[in-house]
Amino acid sequence: MKALTVAALALVAPVTALLRFPCAQLVIDRLDPLVTPGQAPSPHLHQILGGDSFNVTMDPEKDMPGESTCTSCQFSEDFSNYWTAILYFKARNGTYKRVRQIPNSGFEGVNGGMTVYYMQDGLYNFQQTSKVQGFQPGFRMFIGDVNARTKEEAERFRQLTFTCLDNINTRDPQTLDFPSEPCRAGIMTAVRFPTCWDGVNLDSPDHMAHMSYPEFGSFESGGPCPASHPVRMGQLFYEVIWDTAPFNNKDDWPEDGSQPFVWSFGDATGYANHGDYLFGWKDDALQRALDSPCYINCPTLETQDAAAMNACTVPRVVEEEIDDWVEDLPGGHSAEYIKKRWTD
Ligand SMILES: *[C@@H]1O[C@H](CO)[C@@H](O)[C@H](O)[C@H]1NC(C)=O
Ligand SMILES: *[C@@H]1O[C@H](CO)[C@@H](O)[C@H](O)[C@H]1NC(C)=O
Repeated sequence: MKALTVAALALVAPVTALLRFPCAQLVIDRLDPLVTPGQAPSPHLHQILGGDSFNVTMDPEKDMPGESTCTSCQFSEDFSNYWTAILYFKARNGTYKRVRQIPNSGFEGVNGGMTVYYMQDGLYNFQQTSKVQGFQPGFRMFIGDVNARTKEEAERFRQLTFTCLDNINTRDPQTLDFPSEPCRAGIMTAVRFPTCWDGVNLDSPDHMAHMSYPEFGSFESGGPCPASHPVRMGQLFYEVIWDTAPFNNKDDWPEDGSQPFVWSFGDATGYANHGDYLFGWKDDALQRALDSPCYINCPTLETQDAAAMNACTVPRVVEEEIDDWVEDLPGGHSAEYIKKRWTD
């Protein structure tokens, strides 16, 4: 493992690096090579982005991202895979329709996908001078809990949030549950991963234990890393914008006044928001970018245009209907199943 030592990191001069870039949709599929490797179909549907070596299994020993021939991300040396669950609308008649992803402000023309950040400091800190370490080959992580259904369960993860978009640039307020009223410009979900690494393990059995949140505060507030996880990494952060506006007619919303959106595994609270990451930057491209003066635009990295990003796709492995109105969520999270899961 090519880990720089913490002492060596401190000697490097401060720079300004905040990477913010779009990735188009690589595929929507019922696969999860991190949580359920080798299993097709996986329990629920995901949107996956990044390198086209993505498959049912991503063997950490094999440098599979290195086998990619293209990436759906703007920085063409980034063969990482990024994925989240899919959002569904549940109409009053009980049927479901998948909610599309739309590009962020400034990234028009990109097919769905999400916005990915790697940050040195807080998002609104334009200095970005703190030294952070990039991830390494074989590194992967998960954040969130698919079984969380209460605010208390969701609060264990400091920053997995929803924003009700009044326009594409709305960023606050952020909530831990789904917005309760129609959102004019869609719903944005944000997934901020923990930023303190144990410095040793590239993965762990729950895909979380090798990482930690700062001892107190947050990455953005400059909270220190705990002794158990001393290496301060860049803040990896996803923003996904869901095109919920076509479903804003309240005549189609539940009669009991609740909101109609559910995650692809049946959670209608939103507390089970989660995300997956599998590192795959080529050579030292990520560390090079984090150590270079780049603020959003990064001249030290090779970039590709939206057409090239959109052209990088892989065929679906699990064949099932994902675009029509459906009676059940893919994976059989039927209304009965969901109701039982919440009321038990
Ligand atoms: C994906 O994995 C399957 C099963 O292991 C394998 O047969 C297939 O060739 C892989 N696809 C690619 C594109 O590598
Ligand atoms: C259920 O409601 C949706 C939204 O109004 C409609 O498009 C769909 O056709 C309906 N499906 C059935 C089976 O009635």
